Amino acid sequence: MPTPVVDTMHRFLDREVRIGGYSAEMEARAALDDFYEAFATLLGCEREEVAFTDNATKAWDMAFYGIPFEAGDRILTCAAEFASNRVAFLHRANQLGLHIDVAADDESGQVDVADLERQISARTRLVAISHIPTHGGLVNPVEEIGRVTRKHGIIYLLDACQSVGQLPVDVRRIGCDFLSSTGRKYLRGPRGTGVLYANRSVLQEFNPPMIDAHAARWVGVDRYQLRDDARRFETYEGNVAGKAALARAARYTLEVGIENIWERVSSLGERLRRTLAEDALVELTDLGAVRCGIVTFRRKDEDPTDTWQRLEKASIRAWRTAKEWARYDFERRGIEQLVRMSVHYFNTEDEIDAACRVVSHRSTR
Ligand SMILES: Cc1ncc(COP(=O)(O)O)c(C=O)c1O
Repeated sequence: MPTPVVDTMHRFLDREVRIGGYSAEMEARAALDDFYEAFATLLGCEREEVAFTDNATKAWDMAFYGIPFEAGDRILTCAAEFASNRVAFLHRANQLGLHIDVAADDESGQVDVADLERQISARTRLVAISHIPTHGGLVNPVEEIGRVTRKHGIIYLLDACQSVGQLPVDVRRIGCDFLSSTGRKYLRGPRGTGVLYANRSVLQEFNPPMIDAHAARWVGVDRYQLRDDARRFETYEGNVAGKAALARAARYTLEVGIENIWERVSSLGERLRRTLAEDALVELTDLGAVRCGIVTFRRKDEDPTDTWQRLEKASIRAWRTAKEWARYDFERRGIEQLVRMSVHYFNTEDEIDAACRVVSHRSTR
């Protein structure tokens, strides 16, 4: 997290200690309201289309579980769809008798949009896509997919957890109905925060899967009235300090400039791939025509866990990505586990070269 983001959180918690939760919230009203304005600017939508959530998963779930599926309906997704989304598809499919279809990849490894369109049938109720998967540098062609979903009038739910804050994401250009994202990744916000975009038109069409007295007003003993805006997907209670800090993180992203961020992140990602590729024992595993700041690989002579541990020992914070998080994609490619390194704009070229030296068992000096 950048210092202004951490400071926002510290300040808010300090005020909670001194004056209590309700007063601290009232005092921070303008900063908290700015959450909606900042994300509306970042995502290219209206503030009424933005909701604050606990994380990306909750944001995605609030959209997904609100879709009124009927037995026999079909969900169309991609090979790189995130594990939690896939298990939610299975959950709903088992409960309601739905079918899950997977669009083929094109030769670059991104979603083959023509195949996606071919697979649309009269029963396709939802197209759900991960913009950038958790397990690789792939950036899916989300605007082309949006043109297809709009043409066929199908709900489009975009998991933008890894893309918001990394590259320009404009919901109107994409044409998605729902978009979910997290605070804790490229936005550099706190953990336990997320955001949901819901297009105005779907707001009228779909009910949230659960509501409280913030999402709806209790207007008569046996009547309630849902909010008109996307905040019908929120709950009253939440991580208020985190919300103020995520609003600050979104502002910080806007100040740095999302185009600048993408230029820097994609060029550092390419440098990392290029340098890793100088070692013949390193196998790069990222797919896609456009590749981002997430870089995955494995050494042919070493278990990815051991590579990751060597990086950790050298204070280089990488991660492992295992089959359970990308089963569909990894099983067909015969992958059990990979090392994942994610770069951001604050990383330096020297840090990238140092990380590559550790991967290749070369001296770190
Ligand atoms: C593509 C994708 N979607 C969703 C999530 C879930 O995000 P969160 O942990 O904020 O719920 C992740 C987390 O890694 C992810 O990579």
